[in-house]
Amino acid sequence: MLNIFKKAQENKYAIGAFNVSNLEQVKAIVQAAQNLQSPVIISTSEGESNFIGKKQIRLIIDAYKEQTGLPIILHLDHGKSFEAIKEAIEIGYDSIHFDGSKLSFEENIEETKKIVDFAREKGIKNIEGELGYLRGGSNIHKTIEVKPEDLTNSKQAEEFVNKTGVDSLAIVIGNIHGISKSGESPHIFLDRLEEINKVVGDEIGLVLHGGSGIKEEDIEKSIQLGIIKINVNTELRVAYTESLKKSLQDDPDRVTPYKIMPPVVEAVQKVVEDKIKIFGSNNKS
Ligand code: G3H
Ligand code: ZN
Repeated sequence: MLNIFKKAQENKYAIGAFNVSNLEQVKAIVQAAQNLQSPVIISTSEGESNFIGKKQIRLIIDAYKEQTGLPIILHLDHGKSFEAIKEAIEIGYDSIHFDGSKLSFEENIEETKKIVDFAREKGIKNIEGELGYLRGGSNIHKTIEVKPEDLTNSKQAEEFVNKTGVDSLAIVIGNIHGISKSGESPHIFLDRLEEINKVVGDEIGLVLHGGSGIKEEDIEKSIQLGIIKINVNTELRVAYTESLKKSLQDDPDRVTPYKIMPPVVEAVQKVVEDKIKIFGSNNKS
């Protein structure tokens, strides 16, 4: 397990994993982490990685690490194939997530194990697997109904971590990707989380995807029950696009990107700072 996760587990806080696809988002996250002296994970999904470039994001993060001295982890989020994961590792990502949740339980174990064997050999210290049916994408949607069978089964979780050797596990406990138009928060099944945490033990870090739109008190309780990494994307995307629209409307004749973008960076930074405070990772760098 990565050191920042061990410390988070021992001291009951969580590290935010924030998604990016451009420089302004990285800048906002790093500034937030710097202001609050927090460790931080910067994630790119396959689509986001392809837009910013895997090599490019690696070098950008290296530059910020050198400048700030902060623990900033570059993480591949929802890697869906062995090839995507192999490429990220070869380029120098620090941490990877293989999302085999759409496969059958047996195939998910088999594929995840293959990836764990490869990534271990390459010295990767955080390999995240996923179990359960996580609905939705990182956007605004009508309503998403979570079904009881979507939730991660604790017996399967135990078998999955034992057979694959992952360091961390993304679970489904009522969480969904994205936020609903009505502003309604999903119901988080804390009892299921407690059950899973008991069977997988301290060697495994539990991960909560779909961190946008979850009630603050549910986040806090989840951290007490073993969540050490929380992924957030949609709320950052909303802050970005809303503030960009406003910035453009405020001065329609403005065409200078470095004058249009500062309020956008500020808006995203504010969301990241709020999350870091809720997750409790401030002053833990
Ligand atoms: O993997 C990324 C996250 O799970 C983001 O979820 O868009 O609901 O914050 P979110
Ligand atoms: Zn996710």
